[in-house]
Amino acid sequence: MSVISIVNQKGGVGKTTAAVNLAAELAQDGPTLLVDADPQASAVGWVMRAPENKPYPAEFRAVTDPGQLERLRELDGYRWVVIDGPPALGSPLMEAALVAADLAIIPVTPSAIDLMSMVEATAVSVRRAMRRNPSLLYAVLINRVVTGTTMPLKVREAMTQEQIPVFATEWTSSTAFVGAAELGVPVQFYRGWNWRAAAREVEALAQEIREVLA
Ligand SMILES: Nc1ncnc2c1ncn2[C@@H]1O[C@H](COP(=O)(O)OP(=O)(O)O)[C@@H](O)[C@H]1O
Ligand SMILES: [Mg+2]
Repeated sequence: MSVISIVNQKGGVGKTTAAVNLAAELAQDGPTLLVDADPQASAVGWVMRAPENKPYPAEFRAVTDPGQLERLRELDGYRWVVIDGPPALGSPLMEAALVAADLAIIPVTPSAIDLMSMVEATAVSVRRAMRRNPSLLYAVLINRVVTGTTMPLKVREAMTQEQIPVFATEWTSSTAFVGAAELGVPVQFYRGWNWRAAAREVEALAQEIREVLA
């Protein structure tokens, strides 16, 4: 079993989008559990909206107790556990999500002005958690990329300078991610405009994750 936590203290960067879509994709490998550790429960809300003919392909559960979150490591019978982290820096819940994880994914949107300070703050949390979880891996996911802009490259360079790993896969800003969420499905099940491109990006990230955790 591998545990992935999606964390960033900032809201609106794509934590829930990443968690719901990744868990659905990784569920192809075997039993998968999506854990909603955000008290706002938007991940659970999303998958509960699923139409009857397109049920969410992974199990899901809300866990907002830090102790319970850390004990997810002891669960049996899952290939993947994907945790949608809480939007609070340095909270016991975020720390628990990091202590429980094999891999932390930090989604960022390249347009944020305070991007570096934001990522550094998250990286500090990750490094602090590494005292209790020395084998924790982490990497940044550049999300909501506007095609043709140079910001993603600048983000990549800045991260590299700070020795923060960045996934090669980037997720484009696409109405497919929004439309899929509205419908209550992962983009792989969505058939609205541009769904294929978004689904391919989800698949590419899942593939990178499999390689990192192999
Ligand atoms: N790649 C993307 N393209 C377009 N919209 C996106 C993308 N990723 C996230 N969004 C949208 O941005 C908003 C915030 O995303 P969400 O996953 O809820 O962030 P968080 O969980 O970090 O608060 C949502 O409306 C979501 O649909
Ligand atoms: Mg969220």
